[in-house]
Amino acid sequence: MKTNRRRFINLAGVTVTGMIAADMTGMHASKKTKQSDPFAHTKTISEEEHKQVFNMCGYSAPKLATVRVGFIGLGNRGPVNLDAMAYLEGVEIKALCDKRMVRVENSQKILSKHGLPPAMEYGGSDDAWMELCKNPDIDLISIAVPRGPLHARMAVCAMENGKHVAVEAPAASTLEEAWQLVETSERTKKHCMMLENCCYDFFELLTLNMVREGFFGEIIHADAGYLHHQNNFIKPEGGDMWRVRESQHRNCNLYPSHGIGPVCQAMNINRGDRLIRMTSMSSNDFIMGKMAAELAKTDSFYKEFDTDSYRGDINTSIIRTLNGKTIMLQYDITSPRVYSRIHTVSGTKGIYQKYPLPGRISQGKDDWFTEQEMDELTKKYTPEIVKRMGELAKEIGGHGGMDFLMNWRLIDCLRNGLAPEQDVYDAATWSSIVPLSEWSVANDSNSIRIPDFTCGSYKTNLPLDITLSMGGNTGVRKLK
Ligand SMILES: NC(=O)c1ccc[n+]([C@@H]2O[C@H](COP(=O)([O-])OP(=O)(O)OC[C@H]3O[C@@H](n4cnc5c(N)ncnc54)[C@H](O)[C@@H]3O)[C@@H](O)[C@H]2O)c1
Repeated sequence: MKTNRRRFINLAGVTVTGMIAADMTGMHASKKTKQSDPFAHTKTISEEEHKQVFNMCGYSAPKLATVRVGFIGLGNRGPVNLDAMAYLEGVEIKALCDKRMVRVENSQKILSKHGLPPAMEYGGSDDAWMELCKNPDIDLISIAVPRGPLHARMAVCAMENGKHVAVEAPAASTLEEAWQLVETSERTKKHCMMLENCCYDFFELLTLNMVREGFFGEIIHADAGYLHHQNNFIKPEGGDMWRVRESQHRNCNLYPSHGIGPVCQAMNINRGDRLIRMTSMSSNDFIMGKMAAELAKTDSFYKEFDTDSYRGDINTSIIRTLNGKTIMLQYDITSPRVYSRIHTVSGTKGIYQKYPLPGRISQGKDDWFTEQEMDELTKKYTPEIVKRMGELAKEIGGHGGMDFLMNWRLIDCLRNGLAPEQDVYDAATWSSIVPLSEWSVANDSNSIRIPDFTCGSYKTNLPLDITLSMGGNTGVRKLK
């Protein structure tokens, strides 16, 4: 077996004995004598009861006339969020951090493009970000480093230092981390929003509004996922191979929130209903191991990736909610196919299917609405946020405008003393699919309890307000 155990231990952040056992059981079903459950800690934590310290759902933190922002992680994603924020009135970009200083320097150019003063620089080491967290002139820290334990570590440190947090997806890689985010946010009364931009996709927002208006009746089931054919073996310029490494060492749905986030919002999860139980199954690996072996034949750079430990290509999970609804969630970034987040919502009065774009709607009778009817429905049900900011968001860009819309609304909420539209319970719940699916895959797809991160407050938490009845007044600067 060619598995690199040292990396295995670093990435998953669990005990050495546990990981060696994992090496022999969950990941390599074909050659095992079954050992004790390598992910037993996940199962134990999934069943723990916690007590809420303070309910952050809908919590109004003191208004910030100006939001002073620091950024950690300026590779691919960080600069997109930075650029979006740089457009916003009432934002000061105070600090930039990346362990690679060249990325900090490149990001300063984004500020000068916007006619903004340079930000303070942090970097050059793995833990320079800790100093940024201590900077008293920062209100919000936006985190976009490789996913894994760093997300939660940075988010917790930021909140402990009195900052609100916006952290890329997934916010946590283990259940321990997910609970740490919840407990720290409640204790410090600092918001912790996961930057789930797909909740701001115009199609997802349209569905959400149609669901709210009762067009589909009561929602029974949703299909969702992240199906994105990628080649993560391409050597990144001066970067890491972290995407390959996590696929080498964790057999599960590694990236659930683009799919599950929007459908959880449509189903009022953590706000009237909650996820209670899931089961998950992975195919074998048919692609990554072979690609790595092929590449390693001619390039020694790939030697460490030539292992037989890759996660299964396609992972499928099924989830049940307390109110008896179901979700099918998939993850596949290796098999050749057209991009899709599936995003199908099925109710007592009709169904919405987003893919293939531009989507389709049916209310039964073996027929889909015509193109003209679809246009009329879109006009009628476009939500206020898209009406008000959609055109501008598209012009500015970032995944068709959703990145801008997400950053705009986050800042708008903080400036108006409103809770960000995704709270720490959403971040914890949506991220928890990673370790929970890992446990289920390693345990013959047995079902596992999904923790109630709201500790019962889901019963009274109000549904997300998508009418922009409050706020919505943050202006946008023109490029100079
Ligand atoms: N929402 C989306 O659409 C979307 C898209 C892509 C990636 N992501 C998420 O964004 C995150 C980053 O992805 P990416 O594609 O930008 O990765 P990347 O590798 O391009 O960038 C990560 C950056 O973090 C820096 N970094 C790593 N460790 C650091 C440390 N200790 N201190 C400071 N900087 C550090 C790296 O030098 C790099 O510049 C991931 O969590 C990923 O899941 C989200």
